[in-house]
Amino acid sequence: DYEGEAIKRAPVVTVMGHVDHGKTSLLDYIRTTRVAAGESGGITQHIGAYHVETPHGMVSFLDTPGHAAFTSMRARGAKATDIVILVCAADDGVMPQTIEAIQHSRAAGVPMVVAITKIDKEGADLDRVKNELVAQEVVPEEWGGDVQFVGVSAKSGEGIEALLEAVLLQSEVLELTAVPSSPGKGVVVESRLDRGRGSVATLLVQNGTLRKGDIVLAGLQMGRVRALLDENGDAISEAGPSIPVEILGLDGTPEAGEEFIVVADERKAREVANFRQGKYREVRFARQHS
Ligand code: GTP
Ligand code: NA
Ligand code: MG
Repeated sequence: DYEGEAIKRAPVVTVMGHVDHGKTSLLDYIRTTRVAAGESGGITQHIGAYHVETPHGMVSFLDTPGHAAFTSMRARGAKATDIVILVCAADDGVMPQTIEAIQHSRAAGVPMVVAITKIDKEGADLDRVKNELVAQEVVPEEWGGDVQFVGVSAKSGEGIEALLEAVLLQSEVLELTAVPSSPGKGVVVESRLDRGRGSVATLLVQNGTLRKGDIVLAGLQMGRVRALLDENGDAISEAGPSIPVEILGLDGTPEAGEEFIVVADERKAREVANFRQGKYREVRFARQHS
């Protein structure tokens, strides 16, 4: 509803697939080779999300621990992911959680890009994996389908560049846009209480810009943003669309998948948060006593 120029925004990607098929290795490879070392010296922190610059544009990754987080976010109505990278190991093929991941992305209406992982391994058989995915109606473009397949190795790095390109190509099709001049809003990726720093929440900005000093309402919590940190743990002053960021300053820990918005009026934000907390306690009380 805000006036302002809409610009192209980066795709937000979640990696899904069967146990041990190489999700973490792929994300780690991309992160360590692509996330520029921060002022605080290297990649010291591992927040639940990060973004990378590529020659063809920016890509943000939600490093959520797989299906559970994706499902719980969806249950809250959050649509944080634009593209799913479906990971399937070249030496193992389609497994139960591969099929689950396909079902999750279909149910969410999120397009897939397939990464056939571990192509460096002895038993790698790309054609077998392709055939097994075709049996799930995930058909590669080169076989007349509409899904990009890329073979990758998180050991040698082979294919990773091509995978990022495939993601950005898919993103072009989606025509993702946002209005950076509007107040920041988005979704909570994760949050925790830190001994020294209090509430630490990882937020994905989906639209607008989130700034230090902003008043944020996030689920049942609110607070003034005391600090914004990037994926290296370095302080930044603002974060625009598709940028994940850690914030300090909320008065509690909102749940993953809850919406956050920047609000102009601190007192109103407190009222809404208090109201929501009251509702939440009522519902919990009713459940306990029914
Ligand atoms: P979960 O999170 O437990 O489901 O596993 P994951 O999908 O994150 O897989 P992970 O990245 O932990 O990799 C599982 C094993 O496969 C590890 O021993 C990795 O070192 C290995 N691995 C992952 N990718 C590759 C690859 O491209 N090549 C080879 N040779 N090994 C790989
Ligand atoms: Na593993
Ligand atoms: Mg993992």
